[in-house]
Order: sequence, then C-alpha cells, then structure tokens
Amino acid sequence: MRRGAVLLVMALGGCSALYGPQSSAMGQGMESAHIGNLFDLFLWVTVPIYLGVMVFLALAMRRRQAMVQGAARPEQEAGWRLGLVLFAVTSALILFGLSVATWFTDRAIARAGAGPALSVEVIGHQWWWEVRYHDPVAGRELRTANELVIPAGATVKVSLSSPDVIHSLWIPNLAGKQDLIPGRTSDVVLKVPKPGEFRAQCAEFCGLQHAQMALPVSVRAPGGFAKWYNAGLATPPVPGGGPEFAGYSLFTGRQCASCHNIAGTPASGQVAPDLTHFGSRTTIASGALPNTAASLERWIADPQRVKPGTQMPQVPLSPEERAAVVAYLESLK
Ligand code: CUA
Repeated sequence: MRRGAVLLVMALGGCSALYGPQSSAMGQGMESAHIGNLFDLFLWVTVPIYLGVMVFLALAMRRRQAMVQGAARPEQEAGWRLGLVLFAVTSALILFGLSVATWFTDRAIARAGAGPALSVEVIGHQWWWEVRYHDPVAGRELRTANELVIPAGATVKVSLSSPDVIHSLWIPNLAGKQDLIPGRTSDVVLKVPKPGEFRAQCAEFCGLQHAQMALPVSVRAPGGFAKWYNAGLATPPVPGGGPEFAGYSLFTGRQCASCHNIAGTPASGQVAPDLTHFGSRTTIASGALPNTAASLERWIADPQRVKPGTQMPQVPLSPEERAAVVAYLESLK
C-alpha cells in the first residue's frame, strides 16, 4: 500500500530518485518506518477528502452558473446547507483523529529510543561532521570525522550539537531532520534492522559550503561494526620509511599538525577532522571528493578550489612533498 502511494506521489512529482542511499521514499530505519506509516494514514484519509472537495467545487460552480442564468433559486439550498455543516463536523473529527495518530507515532518513537545500546555524538562544523563514540569503558572512546558507522539492529542515540552556526542532520533513509543548534543538544534515535550504505546531508543553510556537507552513513552487521570500532581504537604505526615516512615527517612538522589529530603522532590539533584512520574513509572533505590519492592531492594543493570558503588553509608544499603527504594519509587505514 505504502509503496503504491509513494510511487504515485513521486510519479506525479516527476521524481525518479526513489531508491538509493539518499531517499526518504522507503524508510529503512525505525523512526522513518513510524513516520512512513503515519504518512500512509494521512495520504489515504486526505486523498478521498481532496477529491470530494473538488467534486463539490465543480457542482457549486455549475449551480452558480444556473443561478446567474435564473434556472435555480437560492431558497432551494436548505439541503446543501445541512450537508455543509455535516461536512465541517466530519472534517473536524477526522482532523482530531489524525492528531491522535500523530501523538501515538511520537510516543512510539520516544519509547523506541529508551535505553540505547550505543551513544554517539555528532558535531556539525562549517563544513564537516565530527563524530564521537561514547563507551562506558575508559579508553574506548572513539573520535572520527565525516563518517557515521553504526551497528544494525541496535538502538543508537545520536546527540547533536554545533559550535558555530545551525546545521541540520538529515539521513533521509533512516530518520527525519534534526537541527544542530549552538548552545543546545538535540538528539535523534537510529534503529536500522539491516546493514546498508546511506548518505546524510546537512539540511539547514549554514554558509558557503552548506551543499558540500555530506555524511556517509554505514550500517554494519554487529560483528562488522565491532571490527571497525576496534580498528578505529588502534594507533596506526609510524611508517618505517619511503614516501609514507617523508609524508609523516612533513605532516607532523608543518601546519597540518596544529589543526588535525592523528593518534600516536605529535599531530594533536582538535579544530579540524581527526585523520587517524583517514585512509579507510570513502570521501574527502565531507563528501566533496571520493577518497582517492588523485583527489586528495587536488584537495591539499588548493582547498579553496575544491570547497571555496573552507577553513582548510593551503599549506605550501612542493609537488614531491605533497605526494609524500598523500601517500602517508592514504596509508592510514
Ligand atoms: Cu551545515 Cu548546512
């Protein structure tokens, strides 16, 4: 039923992006399933009403025409008046029913978020996402950026905040939009039954690079998630030699280290994305580029050309030095 409804609406809207990593048409998360059911209810209740209103509008226009031409008299309208009152009362009852349904959906979402198995903090920056995983065990806190990895089947509470301007996290496949407001913490609960790869997008205009503020969201089987998490906690080894070691020396010796953090190295800057396992990510600069050596080189060579307005400065490096830094960063799996 829902599928048909969505297809109908999307086809009417001329939209073809029904499926895919960034589509709200077929919710795959707990919250989007609840909201999807509510949407279905609204759709199937309101479509017949809309059609009814259109039919009566056409009848009214015809009658008005007849009255203008003197073929009908106003005093013949008593039956219509009663019909109109009944229609208004029915509409009010239906609206009340829909409000009750909305309230139940809201409660269901709130209940589902109780007692989360995992607590994650997502912080919006101009223009990237910081992600912190909280773990009750000391030393098992994980900090990463521009990727959100969560286990399938678990209730995940995502706390949202922002140190600069208002952003909004929108993972269309999994949940509704939720704003990240400076000075406040809001949250969104994710519960996704099956693994999958999705894409979130900042949904609140936040400056020049608002459009290039994407967040790949990976839902993995519990075992795969645990593996990823433990790999994330591991400190990458310092390269033994070659261009990777040259890149390591450049990265930790130049300005890069004052903004970026790489665990186990002198680079401990906290204002830019953590790069400890940069090589394992799929995108660069919050989804602006795919994570390949060629695009990383492009990004480092001239950040303003890729993302005008970005706060990443252009670090003066010769082409050889740049290639070494790229080799080092890509080795951080
Ligand atoms: Cu951040 Cu728009």
